[in-house]
Amino acid sequence: MTKSKILTPRDSAVEMTQLVLPGDANILGAVFGGTVMAWVDIAGAIAARRHSRHISVTASVDALAFVSPMYVGHIANIHAMVNWTGRTSMEVGVRVDGEDPDSGLHYHTLTAYLTYVAIDDNRKPVVVPKLTPETPEEIRRFENAVKRRASRLELKKQLIQKETE
Ligand SMILES: CC(C)(COP(=O)(O)OP(=O)(O)OC[C@H]1O[C@@H](n2cnc3c(N)ncnc32)[C@H](O)[C@@H]1OP(=O)(O)O)[C@@H](O)C(=O)NCCC(=O)NCCS
Repeated sequence: MTKSKILTPRDSAVEMTQLVLPGDANILGAVFGGTVMAWVDIAGAIAARRHSRHISVTASVDALAFVSPMYVGHIANIHAMVNWTGRTSMEVGVRVDGEDPDSGLHYHTLTAYLTYVAIDDNRKPVVVPKLTPETPEEIRRFENAVKRRASRLELKKQLIQKETE
């Protein structure tokens, strides 16, 4: 019998690079938030797929805060990895850093947490492999993801309650 491989957050890591083009920007020359959100969702979905080996749909996106604008001609470095796994869901952390190609300066633009659910051929949630965090940083992210999941599910419950009132 072959032992299944331990999967760490690093096994799902995604490094994606985008150049901010004029078509991505508003009249101030700064990238649209929605464009960055699309890049974040793509990087997150790739990390979830790498971990689960299934197509994974976005179930929720936590509150987002844009820390600093990214301007036309700058480079967006998008890092994503699975922080935590449940039965069928996965939390993916995505960090976007801008890069000024003239100075080489890197600056934090955004950190986002998204939940993906792996689905089968019938588009039903399917069990994902367990994640094994190993480094102190991975363990810290895993533990924080557990807390975020609790508030996420509580928010979902409240929203459903409001809809049925
Ligand atoms: C995500 C989706 C597959 C979940 O289906 P469901 O029938 O609610 O499935 P379940 O209730 O069994 O939940 C499946 C998992 O998702 C998690 N989940 C569901 N809604 C969630 C939310 N809002 N936030 C975080 N996790 C959520 C559940 O906790 C569960 O996790 P677990 O298996 O790890 O314990 C379904 O709601 C869906 O297809 N949504 C649309 C997805 C989509 O189209 N996304 C693109 C953006 S439009």
